Amino acid sequence: MQRPPDAAPKSGVDREKQVQQIFSEIAPRYDLLNHILSLNIDRSWRRKAVQALEWESASSGVYLDACAGTYDLSLELASKDGFKGSVVASDFAHPMLVQGTPKIGDALVRPVCGDSLGLPFEDNVFEGATVGFGVRNLSGLERGLSEFRRVLKPGRRLVVLEFTTPPNAIVRAGYLFYFHNILPLVGRIVSGHPWAYTYLPKSVKQFPGPSDLGALFESVGFTDVGWTLVSGGIAAIHWGSAT
Ligand SMILES: C[S@@+](CC[C@H](N)C(=O)[O-])C[C@H]1O[C@@H](n2cnc3c(N)ncnc32)[C@H](O)[C@@H]1O
Repeated sequence: MQRPPDAAPKSGVDREKQVQQIFSEIAPRYDLLNHILSLNIDRSWRRKAVQALEWESASSGVYLDACAGTYDLSLELASKDGFKGSVVASDFAHPMLVQGTPKIGDALVRPVCGDSLGLPFEDNVFEGATVGFGVRNLSGLERGLSEFRRVLKPGRRLVVLEFTTPPNAIVRAGYLFYFHNILPLVGRIVSGHPWAYTYLPKSVKQFPGPSDLGALFESVGFTDVGWTLVSGGIAAIHWGSAT
């Protein structure tokens, strides 16, 4: 079968529209597919990402979860024992926010529809920020990282959880086979969307590796930058402190 042309990640404004369209269209099946396709491993990645945030040092603060989707990462933080603060969960695909709303329950998670490339928040307001599987989709990665730095209080952390490509050749071969063959097929069948899950492996391939992403963090003004690979390098967790 011929691949539809829209599966390739676009650039600039077209990329923004493409990403917004994808997530708006797959919103009803997003959670189900996320957990099927990651075999539920994504839950442990989210736990580790929240650990890297060091929220305990300001447990009553207001935190940002950008590109929040259906709130899995927002809720991971908001439901921590000892967390007494709140999470502002922003995303520009309104259907994703609506889809996740029933999961919020009593948790202090406040949805905001907004673009991460121009966040609708004042400077220096958040005690910490997380982005789960969001930065890879930004049409301007540097601009997005600068926005996250701008809204963070000085010294506070940004944590980014994102797919990457495993360094070990054997793990990488299995991962690439899964990513390019099984994932698009299952994604197409379950979501009913013809190309959204073909876009995903392509966007990962184009995304900078861990050290390049770490260098970008530094170039926009984060300090104490570090990262760790999870599950053999299928994903990486990066962090940095705002200046
Ligand atoms: C793969 S989902 C991740 C959702 C959630 N963080 C998670 O961990 O499951 C990526 C999300 O990023 C959002 N997104 C992508 N680009 C964005 C942008 N420029 N501004 C705001 N949200 C964006 C999409 O709408 C989508 O909901």
